[in-house]
Amino acid sequence: MKIVVIGTGYVGLVTGTCFAESGNDVTCVDINADKIERLNQGEIPIYEPGLTELVKRNSAAGRLKFTTDVAECVPGARCVFLAVGTPMDEDGSADLSGIWAACDSVAPHLEEDAIIICKSTVPVGTNRKVYERLKKSLNREVHVASNPEFLKEGCAIDDFTKPDRVVVGVMTAEAAETLEELYKPFLRTEHPFLVMGLESAEMTKYVANCMLATKISFINEMANLCEVVGADVNEVRKGIGHDQRIGFQFLFPGVGYGGSCFPKDVRALMATASEHQVSSQLLQSVDNVNKSQKCVLFEKIQRFFGSELKGKTIAIWGLAFKPRTDDIREAPALTLIDQLLEAGASIRAHDPVAMDNVKSVYGDKITYCKHQYETVEGADVLAICTEWNEYRTPDFNFMKQQLKSQAIFDGRNLYDPQKMFARGFYYSGIGLKQPKSTEA
Ligand code: UDX
Repeated sequence: MKIVVIGTGYVGLVTGTCFAESGNDVTCVDINADKIERLNQGEIPIYEPGLTELVKRNSAAGRLKFTTDVAECVPGARCVFLAVGTPMDEDGSADLSGIWAACDSVAPHLEEDAIIICKSTVPVGTNRKVYERLKKSLNREVHVASNPEFLKEGCAIDDFTKPDRVVVGVMTAEAAETLEELYKPFLRTEHPFLVMGLESAEMTKYVANCMLATKISFINEMANLCEVVGADVNEVRKGIGHDQRIGFQFLFPGVGYGGSCFPKDVRALMATASEHQVSSQLLQSVDNVNKSQKCVLFEKIQRFFGSELKGKTIAIWGLAFKPRTDDIREAPALTLIDQLLEAGASIRAHDPVAMDNVKSVYGDKITYCKHQYETVEGADVLAICTEWNEYRTPDFNFMKQQLKSQAIFDGRNLYDPQKMFARGFYYSGIGLKQPKSTEA
């Protein structure tokens, strides 16, 4: 099938590459000529495990092309995916200017039977507006479908090629049949193709992300409570998780959720609710709890030093919003860095892949360390913001020698508090029970 994907961000690039991998003729389009030039040379603008190899292989096979010119690739295409960014406006609503610009640029080149499929996360009602806009500009019927994407950064290829489900919102049976054929290589009996209305598909994406964000804010609030009543959130998590109605997934406490989706989508759904005069108290609380949770490590460090942080040096491990990505959008580490700088502390930071992105935000305000152990040299304490695998079993002896206060503030619960106590550290995780003799 001939396919065009507009937008070469995370979703667009992974979508185009995976469809090429299953044998389709795919062209990815972007208005950024520099990005297209780099992609044509096999240079991938994002860090995503496995993607570079897949792009190169499919480009070499002639199934995957990159261009800035819609007039060159849209004619003859059966499916045109819109995967442009929908960033957050100041009021929390989604900025749809990219969607409208993409619609207008492809419209004059669309075949009669082409389907325009929106993969970007867009507020309920947007796909119907896309349909009306195209119908008006072409003065004929058009096929429009909503096909939200659920992939996670860091596991994007696996998530795309083995989806838990594929959701499509359609207006015609023909569009549903074409999309089912396209997705067939990735479907299994237990991983179904779900056909629904445009509005339900749009809503499904927001409800899924808001449900996941709610789970995280819920367990974070419970973790904070566990810590002060002498309970251990890991024991509690197991205690509740065996109830099959609750389960174990997505209930790991931490320093709050970040990334390009959860914070934006929770606020966008709140904006939709407010537009329709519907209350969204729960979503508001999920967002508020997350904002507070991002401050937890700073508050702990501040309490440890009795408020005075001026002149202290804090080592930070992990800057990306989660492991296996260089994405720092809404990353909890950035909140910690801002608060520490404001308090007059110095920072020595490490991340395996996100350092360049952090440099572009903070310049020379913080020290960037090539190796994780360089951060602790001369530092007072260590804070951990991202659970990269290489942080899981470090050389504790070296760290104890280096850290002046021999204290670790762990926002991802990587270590056993009892063992850390035996190793001679002051160790504070999220919602963990303190070993007897360190209880204040
Ligand atoms: C998310 C959704 O999972 C995905 O379906 C959607 O398409 C896009 O948004 P992503 O943003 O890549 O994907 O990251 P995800 O792995 O879901 O993690 C989001 C945030 O939640 C991270 O900051 C992570 O650290 C945090 N998290 C996740 C927790 O704090 N605890 C958990 O138990 C799980």
